[in-house]
Amino acid sequence: MSTKSKILLHMKKHMNEWVSGETLSSMFNVSRTAIWKNIRNLKSEGFVIESSPKLGHRLIRTSDLLLETEIKDGLKTSVLGQNKFIHYTETDSTNLKAWELAMRGAPEGTLVISENQTKGRGRRGRDWVSMPEKGISLSVILRPRIEPAEALKLTLITSVALAETIISCTGLDVRIKWPNDLLISGRKIAGILTEMHTDTDEIRHVVVGFGLNVNTRTEDFPVELREIATSLLIESGREFSRVALTRGFLELFENYYLMLTSNNVTPVIQKWKDMADIHGRRITVQMIREQVTGWIVDIDRDGFLIIKDDNGKMHTIISGDVIPVKNEGD
Ligand code: BTN
Repeated sequence: MSTKSKILLHMKKHMNEWVSGETLSSMFNVSRTAIWKNIRNLKSEGFVIESSPKLGHRLIRTSDLLLETEIKDGLKTSVLGQNKFIHYTETDSTNLKAWELAMRGAPEGTLVISENQTKGRGRRGRDWVSMPEKGISLSVILRPRIEPAEALKLTLITSVALAETIISCTGLDVRIKWPNDLLISGRKIAGILTEMHTDTDEIRHVVVGFGLNVNTRTEDFPVELREIATSLLIESGREFSRVALTRGFLELFENYYLMLTSNNVTPVIQKWKDMADIHGRRITVQMIREQVTGWIVDIDRDGFLIIKDDNGKMHTIISGDVIPVKNEGD
């Protein structure tokens, strides 16, 4: 553990209490100058620390940056986030960085988090726009022993874990839109991007990434997104701890991932169905080469969408954009 982490741990144990530089320097066997430099670094990472020449330093508030020390503090997972943990202040895309790491053999559970992304990626080559330090941009490397055809379930369990985390932290009503959008009041609050590397019939790795708008204000969004995107702050009028949300997600997601890889994912798919509210909905699905309009019947055991068109023909949709169709009288 670095000296900075040791200082932080000690100060967290003595939250709001003065701890002298001398005490810290003799505890960790480093000079007073080294203590001072580490305290300065902690302050620049968002920890609110009061310093006094006579009394020393006292920690008043921990940081809400998505730092390894903060997220791992009390994190109840066995693998996710426990091994390799990469935190960027800014990067192009956490999915891209995670993919590169996975190609170089990074282990299952590796986390890549960034306070800001300059080229956040969405599905189908779209961009994902996030605001520095206002949301969560997180990617995780998985090496599941499942068939490639089952990979869509990873997106579904991610949606459920994220939706449930938001509900338990905020009490807001979150809905899922197949396959990978989370909505509040009909506006997008989060998106999920699952990217898979297969070798013949085997999954080599999967990168699951999500972006969640947490403390973003309306005016922070580009004008063209203001009508279609939202944040937890906009919906509730309150700011939320990104660290707590991230921790909550990792714990739930790990449970659901274990259920998936041990062939026991049906209860999670059922939760997905409950939150997706799909029954009796008329939609158009825009795919790469065609579009289908019809009534949603269900999702099948692999998570594919089943639609009945107006001629009564059933379609199994593997991927596409879902556009609600207004019924007469709506
Ligand atoms: C979508 O709605 O189309 C998916 C958006 C996914 C955005 C997340 S943010 C973290 C991760 N890194 C990326 O570049 N994209 C995903």
